[in-house]
Amino acid sequence: MKRELLNKIYYVGVNDRQKTLFENMLPLPYGVSYNAYFIDDEKTVLVDTVEQPFAEQLLAQVQELLAGRQLDYLIVNHMEPDHSSGIKTLQAIYPNMQIIANAKTIDMLGGYYGIKDGFHVVKDGDSLNIGSRTLQFHFAPMVHWPEVMVTYSVEDKLLFSADAFGCFGTLDGAVLDTELNLDKYYTEMVRYYACIVGKYGAPVQTALKKLGGLDIKMICSTHGPVWTDHISEVIGIYDRLSKYETEPGVVIAYGSMYGYTEEMAEMVARGAASVTKNVVLHDVSRSDHSYILADIFRYKGFICGAPTYCGELYPNAATLLAKIKTRGVKNHEFGCFGSFTWANATAKPFEVFAEAMKWEMAGYVEVKQAMTAEQAEALYELGRAVALKTINN
Ligand code: FEO
Repeated sequence: MKRELLNKIYYVGVNDRQKTLFENMLPLPYGVSYNAYFIDDEKTVLVDTVEQPFAEQLLAQVQELLAGRQLDYLIVNHMEPDHSSGIKTLQAIYPNMQIIANAKTIDMLGGYYGIKDGFHVVKDGDSLNIGSRTLQFHFAPMVHWPEVMVTYSVEDKLLFSADAFGCFGTLDGAVLDTELNLDKYYTEMVRYYACIVGKYGAPVQTALKKLGGLDIKMICSTHGPVWTDHISEVIGIYDRLSKYETEPGVVIAYGSMYGYTEEMAEMVARGAASVTKNVVLHDVSRSDHSYILADIFRYKGFICGAPTYCGELYPNAATLLAKIKTRGVKNHEFGCFGSFTWANATAKPFEVFAEAMKWEMAGYVEVKQAMTAEQAEALYELGRAVALKTINN
C-alpha cells in the first residue's frame, strides 16, 4: 500500500527488526528503519536505497509506484552501506537510471560496488528540474561521512537530510511525527547522535548554518520519523548536541570487581543527589557504553571511578574514557575516584584524560582496599562539588 507524504512524494523505506547491534556495536532495543523516498514527477526519482537484505522490499514498493515506467534517477545522499548496499539490486533492474552523486560519492560507488558509469554529477548548490519541481543539492561533509549531501525540494519545502535528524527505532505502522508517540525517538536520537555523529560537532554546526536559510516544512531523514510539526525540536536537539550544550546533572560511571568501588560510587551519587535530581549511575561493565555516552552528551557533570587492574586503569573504564576522548566532548565538570589493593595506578590516567579533554578536575579521591568513614565523606563531597559546578558554571 502506497504511503504518500505530500504531492506525490512517497515513503518507500523498511524496518529492520532483526539486527541486534547497529554497526555491529550499538544495541537496537527498538530496531531501526532505513528510509528511502520516491518522487513521482515528469521524471521518476528515488532518494537513497536501503541495506541489501531489504532491497527486495524496497524494490517492490518502487515497482508499484512506477507502474511499468522506468526509474529515471537515483539520488545518493549518503554512501554508508545501510543506505547504499541496495543500489546493485536496483541497478540490475533499472540499468538506465542516472545516479545523482557528487565526486566523493562516485569514488565510493566505484570502490564498494564497482559502479563506474551512469552518473549525473552534481556540485554543491546545483539544481535539477524534474518536471513540476526543482531539486537542490547541498553538500554537508562530515555529517558524518565526507560525501554526505542533502537534497532540498524547493516547491515542497522538503529536505531529504541523509542521516541528519535521524534516530534508532522502527516506524511502527506510521511514518510521520504527527502519527507516532515520539518519546523513544527523542531518546534514541540523542544516543544515535552521541555515538555516530558526536565527533563531528563543528561540521554539524557548519551544515546547520548553511541550511538555516532554507524554508523547511518537512524533513525526511534516512532513519526514524519524517519530521513535520516537530522540526524546530529536532533541529534544536542537533544544534545543542553539536555545540556540546548540556543540562545540569551528573553522570557517574564506575568499574567495580567486588563491590568496593561501587560503594564509593554510591557515596559520590549521594553527594550529587543532595544538589540535583539529575544523577545517573552506570556500571561500565554492565551499561552499554552507547547509553553512557548519550547521558554524557546530556549532562554537564561526569565523574568516573575505577579500580587498578594489572597495574593500569580498569579496562572497561579506560575504554569508556577513550570513547569520550574520540568524540571531543567539551564543557564538562569532571571528578574521579580510584581504588587499589597494593599499588595505585588510577591517578595518572585520570589526570591525562582530564588534560586531553581540557576539563578542569574538581577532585580525585583514592582508596586503598575498603573506604574509611573519612574517605566516604570525601567522596560525598566530590559528588556534591561536581553537581554544584554543573549548576553554577
Ligand atoms: Fe545510516 Fe551513516 O548511515
